[in-house]
Formats: sequence, C-alpha cells, structure tokens
Amino acid sequence: MRRIVVRAGNPLQGEVAVSGAKNSVLKCMAATLLAPGRHVITNVAAIDDVTVMGDVLSAMGVGVDRSGLAAESTLVIDVPEVCTPEAPYELAEKIRASIVVLGPLLARFGYAKVPLPGGDDFGSRPIDMHIKGFEALGATVNIRHGDLEARADRLVGGRIALDYPSVGATENLLMASVLAKGTTVIDNVAREPEIGDLIDLLTAMGAQIAGKDTSTLTIEGVDTLHPTEHAVIPDRIEAATYAVAVGLAEGDVTIKGARLEHMDMLAEKLAEMGVHISAVDNGVWVTSEGRPRSADVSTLPYPGIATDYKPFLLTLLTVSDGVAIVTENVYGANRYAYVAELSRMGADIRTEGHHAVVRGVPRLSGAPIKAHDIRAGAALVLAGLAADGTTLVGDAHHVERGYADLVASLKSLGADVEWEEPAGDGR
Ligand code: UD1
Repeated sequence: MRRIVVRAGNPLQGEVAVSGAKNSVLKCMAATLLAPGRHVITNVAAIDDVTVMGDVLSAMGVGVDRSGLAAESTLVIDVPEVCTPEAPYELAEKIRASIVVLGPLLARFGYAKVPLPGGDDFGSRPIDMHIKGFEALGATVNIRHGDLEARADRLVGGRIALDYPSVGATENLLMASVLAKGTTVIDNVAREPEIGDLIDLLTAMGAQIAGKDTSTLTIEGVDTLHPTEHAVIPDRIEAATYAVAVGLAEGDVTIKGARLEHMDMLAEKLAEMGVHISAVDNGVWVTSEGRPRSADVSTLPYPGIATDYKPFLLTLLTVSDGVAIVTENVYGANRYAYVAELSRMGADIRTEGHHAVVRGVPRLSGAPIKAHDIRAGAALVLAGLAADGTTLVGDAHHVERGYADLVASLKSLGADVEWEEPAGDGR
C-alpha cells in the first residue's frame, strides 16, 4: 500500500491551483442521466471518486469518455435513450454519493434500483429524507435485498419540507422534481455552493428552478431536458486544505481558482487563529506567521463551517496556543477516527460525544499513522508539516479519492512530502 512521507520544513511559498469540486462533479455526472445526448463537463478533478461514478454510469449503459480528464479536466458523457436504471452494489458501495442517481433515474425512467448506503468510518448515514421526498412526489419506495427500489409512472410535483438541510436529499429531490408534472416546493434545503452549481447545470439543461442560494426551491417540472456544457465550481474543501497547510507550516501562498465567497466563515475562523485569507485575481492569498492561536469551532450546514473542514481545523488546533472546543453538529458522535492518529503524534485531544477539547502543544512528533477517509487523511498529511521527525501516512489511497495529487501540490509550495511504496503492510 502506498504511503505519504512528510517532514516539516521551510514556510510554504508560491502558487497552487484547486481542481473542480468533488462534491459537485459527482452530482453533475448523475444529472446527465436526465437528458439523452452528449454532455460535456469541464473543470473535472482527476480523482478516484470521479472514476467510480463514471463506472456507475457505464454500468447503466452510459458512454463515459475520460480521455480528456488528465490533460484538459474534461469529461464527455453520452447518455442513450434507454439505460439500465440500476446501480451495481460493487460500485455503489465504494462511493456513498452514488445514491443521487436515484432521483434522475426515477424521473426519467419511472424506475430506479440503487443499493442502500452501508456504514463507513463515520457510522451509518440514513436516507429517510430522500425516501420521504420521493414518496411526496408520488413514488412508491421499497427496500428489498439491500436495494432501494423506487417506482412512479410519472412523478407529480408536491410540497416537501426537509427535517434537516441535507445536501444529498436536496440534490436527489431536486433532480427528481425537474421532470415531475407540475410544481414542486422544497423547504429547508441545503444551500452549499455545490447545490448552486447543480442548479446552474440543471437550468442550463432547460430546468425551471427558482430560489437558488435560499432555503426554499420552487421547481416547475418540464417534459424534457437537453444536454449542455458545464464547468464545475472550484473545490472549497481542497482550498481549505492548502490554507490550513499555510497555518501549520507558515508562509504565503496563492490558491488559484479558490473563491473567497464560498469560504467566508472559514476565512473568519482562520483569521481568529492568525491565518489570513484575502481575495486576489482568480483566487485567494493566504499568509501566516508564528504559532496559530486557538479558537472554538462548531460545524454547521452552509454557510456555517463545513464538517469537511473540521479535520483540518482540528489539526491546526493541535499546535495552536491555547485550548479550544470543537463541536460536531452535522454528523453523529463517532466522526473522530483520525483523533487517535493525531494523538499518536503527541496531540492533546479529548473527545466526549459531539465535542473535542484540544489543548495546543508547541510541536507534534512524527509517527506512522493511518488515513481513514479523504479529508481526515489529508489532515494527517498536514499534521506532518508541524511535526518533528518523519510522519508516515499509511492507507493513503483514501486521499486519492478526493485529491488529484495532494503530494505534488504541497511539494510545489516547497513542502517536504513524498509518495513511498513500502515493502511491508503500509504501517
Ligand atoms: C455531503 C457531502 C459530505 C459532507 C456532507 C455535509 C457529498 C458527496 N458529500 O454528504 O462531504 O460532509 O454533505 O456537508 O457531497 N441525514 C439523515 N437523513 C437523510 C439524509 C441525511 O438523517 O435522509 C443526516 C446525515 O446522517 C447527516 C446529516 O443529515 O447527519 C447531513 O447529511 P447530508 O447533508 O445528507 O450529507 P451527504 O449529502 O451524505
């Protein structure tokens, strides 16, 4: 198993570009199912999750041309008139985002079968709001042999109020309702920038959606949609990775493509901690000098601090001056698997339910550790930038699910970081 070797070094300096948002492109790919023909998606990150989502679509009979991905960040997707509206378990279980093919398949073909998402390192993630929403649009939903099967001759517009602004439920129900008969109103929707991106794509395909960036979406169903070309928004979580790297290693870095307006609350929190982000032409500029300062962090749905930023912020807090309380408000209490790894590096963190208390230490101490998921894995790589000695991040394939090449990006800023193929078992 490949691992990443990190040693603390000089302050980071230079320019790094962010790819298109992972959490947006996967939904844009699912949205192509809504219209037959040739779709072009640009600014696509060359990451493993895009490959797997491409395989999910291919298994349905969709043509997915990735030949332009590495050089031009472009995906060409040919959706036939007739597809097999089913996602195979072997692929769907690899990425939980595959659940969002359900809405477009059901809307277009009147039937969809998708494996129920299983548990992962974050624990189980229910999909009750997706199911209730489909039912409100007139679908019959059954769970059989581990699959979720939904049927409806034609979906009919309805009123849906989400119990919680779930990103996935908002996207799935939005994609179902654009081809439903009549008007659908969805209340308490998620407002993440990736949802705005999906709305822009659907609108360009001919959908009628009002209320972008607000908590209520009103969708007038149309009979058909058409393919289009769409550029994915930049990945704000990847941008946050580099910003926190600057906080840990000090320095001054331009993150090309990043949009400050998508990261307002994060920028405010980082400023409290001594890491300053400002908008520049086509990107943001990040500077940091000296030891960061502790600040309490609470995750919330957008525009609050994203739960996906938390591993980075918590890592920064491990070497900050002071004590901070980190509160997880989006997921269950067990989203702290990487904390044990940081503790192996000498971090002083105590978790209790949804809370973590982090007492900053002056330096971490390099150790062999393991990545558990994409963002936590990246955070552990960053931890190595503030650690004495060598940090070896095993199970680094998790990181490749969401970063085209995190190692190359950090290296381009002067970080001492390398891929390594160990002879042993990755630890
Ligand atoms: C998406 C992101 C993920 C991010 C999360 C929250 C993608 C591919 N993933 O995940 O990186 O961490 O948003 O910003 O875009 N819930 C229910 N019932 C439901 C649906 C959700 O109880 O029917 C709960 C979940 O268990 C969780 C919370 O709602 O506690 C938020 O989940 P949700 O916003 O749906 O996250 P995802 O779309 O899965």
